[in-house]
Amino acid sequence: MMPADLFAALEQPDGRGRFGAPDFLAQFGFLPPDGDSPLNPDGYPIGFAVDQEANQVGLTCAACHTAEVEVNGERIRIDGAPAHLDFDSFYQALAQAVAATLVSPERFQRFAANFGAEDEAAQKALQARLAEFNLELTGDAVVRRPALASGYGRVDALTQIINSLAVTDQSKPENLYPVAAPTSYPPLWLTPELEFVQWIPIAASPIARNGGQVLGVFGHTDLSSGAAENAFRSTMLLRNLQEMEDWLQVLKPPVWDETRMGKIDPELRDRGAEIFRENCAGCHNMAPYERTEPEVNHFGETFIRIGRVDFRKVGTDPAYPMSLLTRQVATNETTAPLFGDRPIVPALEFFGGTVQASVQRAIAEAEFSEEEILALNGMRFTTGPDGKPVPYTPEQPPTYLKAGPLAGVWATGPYLHNGSVPTIYELLSPASERREVFWTGGRALDLRRLGYESGDAPGRFRFDTRLPGNGNGGHEYPEGGLSHDERMAVIEYLKSQ
Ligand code: HEC
Ligand code: HEC
Repeated sequence: MMPADLFAALEQPDGRGRFGAPDFLAQFGFLPPDGDSPLNPDGYPIGFAVDQEANQVGLTCAACHTAEVEVNGERIRIDGAPAHLDFDSFYQALAQAVAATLVSPERFQRFAANFGAEDEAAQKALQARLAEFNLELTGDAVVRRPALASGYGRVDALTQIINSLAVTDQSKPENLYPVAAPTSYPPLWLTPELEFVQWIPIAASPIARNGGQVLGVFGHTDLSSGAAENAFRSTMLLRNLQEMEDWLQVLKPPVWDETRMGKIDPELRDRGAEIFRENCAGCHNMAPYERTEPEVNHFGETFIRIGRVDFRKVGTDPAYPMSLLTRQVATNETTAPLFGDRPIVPALEFFGGTVQASVQRAIAEAEFSEEEILALNGMRFTTGPDGKPVPYTPEQPPTYLKAGPLAGVWATGPYLHNGSVPTIYELLSPASERREVFWTGGRALDLRRLGYESGDAPGRFRFDTRLPGNGNGGHEYPEGGLSHDERMAVIEYLKSQ
């Protein structure tokens, strides 16, 4: 994201304290660190990572995938739950802070003092470095600037990743596409086991998924037209990514804590389980999970089955699937050969192809063994016509949304891929009864309706479901709806999962 030494000296946009201070960054939803640690000498919030060798500070998985929920004023950390992070506003603030430092001489003097640049020559050199970085950051902030504000807990990850590859890495501004379809951060506790992931379930191999993530959140791969022998060489640190993926394996769905969160009524729960079996289980796989057939996997591995439903049938907001399905990308001299020399290809194909080529190059350079490579890919291989393993590919065209397991769903609100429905109770109500406007960023759990408290309060984000991309319609199951009592029963059941 930024050279670590420059970041450490940076002030807040209004010129007050340190930009990296947890109490400043809390307004974007970042969580303070768990006390002092020699691994975190600057005391950055959870989700910041510093690569000392490369002098870089960036964001890691935990920034978007760690939540803290509040129950009766007490905070509970939930690893793997969707963060309350407003990534877009954070990044725009970073760009403002860097630009402001160059504009005001006094401010620059303070920055230079924080940095430790004492004499004039050192200050000049520092100014030149910051100016150069500012140029890069300003451009990147424009590429990432959302046309639809995301607020807390959402980001249009795929558009940003594809912009990063197609516009920035290829140096092709004509590929710019509006960042206007933010999606909710999904929970990560079952993902290593899921057959496919993402809201449009197009990713199976963890290393391809996580490698794509890196290239979207500030990493780069060389796709420039004269790349030649450097083509697809990237900043991915595959061994680190592998360790993070290993960490995901130990995540567990959070358990509803009856002592703090209220007793689950066993009768109501059982009635809810019955209603769920009849009306929901056909799409949402729940424990004990139905698994995929061993025969379809080259190694006989099985995964948790997911449901897939065409987005037009679910009827939820179409902006996200439509943006991915309709977007086209111009290739260049370096990337075109991946796609049979076509000058223009569908964005999802471009995304998959360039990420795969970058991951393959990184794998080759890291000298992984055959076995390690299979593990990196999460064993997601079918058998090809020649009897060799072939990576899983998503069904085409990917016009479907994922109906995933709902374990720990009480910690993952607001709901649907675009986070447009604040509570489970409202999701189980007809769309006409769901709130048109609510506020995100609250951490207190709504223990009755499940989700987060979502009224107006200082520092919260006003979520207007009437804006395109924020629509809260669709997913009206079962047809004809559930009664109030039935909804409460399903909620009781979901608490127990
Ligand atoms: C800037 C925020 C951000 C960061 C950082 C981030 N993610 Fe995510 N993650 C998202 C969003 C948003 C999605 C949903 C994207 C979609 O489906 O369109 C997602 C989806 C996922 C999924 C799919 C889950 C599912 O069930 O569909 C996995 C797995 C995942 N992330 C793992 C990771 C890992 C591992 C890292 C670190 C290497 C990481 N993420 C870093 C925001 C982030
Ligand atoms: C026909 C298949 C289908 C049926 C039946 C169905 N769902 Fe869903 N469900 C989906 C899909 C697809 C999504 C994702 C839609 C989206 O995000 O736009 C979803 C999303 C959800 C979510 C949001 C998950 C999240 O992380 O935001 C919840 C909660 C949910 N369903 C609960 C239920 C319950 C409870 C029932 C039964 C009353 C039910 N669903 C019936 C397909 C179905």
